[in-house]
Amino acid sequence: MSDQSPTTEQTLSNLLKEDRRFEPPAELAANANLTAEAYERAASDREGFWAEQAQRLTWTEPWTQVLDWSDPPFAKWFVGGKLNAAYNCVDRHVEAGRGDKVALHFVGEPVDDTRDITYAELQSLVSQAANALTDLGVDAGDRVAIYMPMIPEAVVAMLACARLGAPHTVVFGGFSADALASRLEDCQAKVVVTADGGYRRGSASALKPAVDEAREKAAAQGHDVEKVLVVRRTGQDLGEGGWDDAVDVWWHDVVDSASTEHTPEAFDAEHPLYVMYTSGTTGKPKGILHTTGGYLTGSAYTHWAVFDLKPETDVYWCTADIGWVTGHSYIVYGPLANGVTQVLYEGTPDSPERGRWWDIIEKYGVTLFYTAPTAIRSFMKQGREIPDQRDLSTLRILGSVGEPINPEAYVWYREVIGGGKTPVVDTWWQTETGSIMISPLPGVTHGKPGSAMIPIPGVSADVVTEEGVSVGNGAGGYLVLTEPWPSMLRTIWGDDERFKETYWSKYSEQGWYFAGDGAKLDDDGDLWVLGRVDDVMNVSGHRLSTTEIESALVSHPAVAEAAVVGAKDEDTGQAVCAFVILRESAASQADDDGEGDDIVKSLRLHVRKEIGPIATPRQIMIVPELPKTRSGKIMRRLLRDVAEHREVGDVTTLADSSVMELISAGVSSGKGED
Ligand code: WT7
Repeated sequence: MSDQSPTTEQTLSNLLKEDRRFEPPAELAANANLTAEAYERAASDREGFWAEQAQRLTWTEPWTQVLDWSDPPFAKWFVGGKLNAAYNCVDRHVEAGRGDKVALHFVGEPVDDTRDITYAELQSLVSQAANALTDLGVDAGDRVAIYMPMIPEAVVAMLACARLGAPHTVVFGGFSADALASRLEDCQAKVVVTADGGYRRGSASALKPAVDEAREKAAAQGHDVEKVLVVRRTGQDLGEGGWDDAVDVWWHDVVDSASTEHTPEAFDAEHPLYVMYTSGTTGKPKGILHTTGGYLTGSAYTHWAVFDLKPETDVYWCTADIGWVTGHSYIVYGPLANGVTQVLYEGTPDSPERGRWWDIIEKYGVTLFYTAPTAIRSFMKQGREIPDQRDLSTLRILGSVGEPINPEAYVWYREVIGGGKTPVVDTWWQTETGSIMISPLPGVTHGKPGSAMIPIPGVSADVVTEEGVSVGNGAGGYLVLTEPWPSMLRTIWGDDERFKETYWSKYSEQGWYFAGDGAKLDDDGDLWVLGRVDDVMNVSGHRLSTTEIESALVSHPAVAEAAVVGAKDEDTGQAVCAFVILRESAASQADDDGEGDDIVKSLRLHVRKEIGPIATPRQIMIVPELPKTRSGKIMRRLLRDVAEHREVGDVTTLADSSVMELISAGVSSGKGED
């Protein structure tokens, strides 16, 4: 566990100053999907409540037991039940006569590159892709990696895998070839679905070459990917040797010509649906496993409850990438299981110009909008003139996810984007929880800027001390989930021990799930998430491991040792700050030629290449020593003080207390700053 206290006095006193309140709008409250009684009902019969939520789905075979928790922490939900996730997201809406309803308003980044896809069309596309994947050798249980831009084929590929019972692992398109290779290898992916490239900030950005490189790397480690299915999106050149006839297959060659008929098979409720990799406290990402029945129940129920979804009239838009869990639960599985019409946007918020998002909301009459605090903060900086020029009056609920939303951003979001009338739901959850756990219900709970409020009906959470005692109102501690929930992770792919150790060992006596976040309960008992308490950073809502970046740095020949911390950042929440000790040869060379800057530059590039652009350090400081305890553990708390330009705190547990003076001296003279 890290030395970072979850409840610094500073944070607590800032939060205590926040006393704004927003009541649910009367009309919304009067027509709300869930009312206040749901909390009580769910608490008095939790399993009964979840069984009721599972009825939102269409089951081929009913379950015989809601929850089997006889072998914790390995849960089984809806035991004996059978269903097909893709059927639930697509076919059943067509069968119910809603085939002509638009499922996806696709908006490509190039202006005017749009495409509406109805549920009937989606059914044909998913069936074709399922048939094509079958022909490529994909069977139930085989893993398929998806490395794609935000285009309809990405959604189709995920649903086609679900339809076949082949767990997908979607790897964010911004990740490097190395990151992709380690995931291909870890889950032993048989097939990769990708595209030649996607559009980003006005130009075509290649993906296929990274797949080639990753495939080579995985092969060198003994894992062979059998087939690569490639969507032609940009038409860009694939480069020298960029096509291997034995492996590569064009999507338009095999999917477009496949039959549009495909009979979905029903799978066990506990059949693996997907693996999503996320950073932990070690260098190796964890493959979070989600299964079918419970996950789909959780994502569909929370999407309906937290967004007060009216599927007949709402137009929904979540700006996340499908490469993250938010895209899985709140673009693909939850919304489509609920049969909504939604926007799917390929590009960045400011391309070709800064009002792009607001144009999309105006054009499609978006009513429910879900995005991240980091995006809201960047719009705040640009000023309200840009959104003010658009008609955003259709919006009725705004969501926030990924990191704590600071009160100023919350209020700006509500006022400027929501016209002062829309509730903001600050939704706390994780890759591991699969769906929203803590959030206001927009028609029931009032909103407090900066607070995620209370667990939704069906979920049970607490804030506790190190020893597992509830802290009570007005105090801070560790966030735990005290009862199992249907969309909970089932394990870490291939590593049951790490699963037990990471999430269930800290409070094993109580049987609680340890989330790794610090939180505080205010005097009303409402919850404020304070951020991670372990060696995990949150940069623009993306989870990054300090250790993972450290190991990327030390894999560079010039680096002897590295320590990474997340420092507060106005735009991105936290930013990556690295402290690096150079190898002697590199250090003396840097000194001789005054080339410290070049080394910093090459280290930044190196991290980009090893992990991806999101992990690039904001700052790299070349230092002579790192602060360590006598047992050799790096004291990140002290480095964070330096990175955040604070007075360096208590150094009494340092093995050598003069180290911090050396580091501070180097930093204050600006040496090694990027
Ligand atoms: C971590 C999970 C949830 C999907 C996207 C990120 C932080 C998430 C909030 C929020 C404060 C939040 C937590 C959490 N986080 N939502 N509303 N308020 N913090 O998923 O990559 O699994 O990261 O994101 O620290 O543990 P993830």
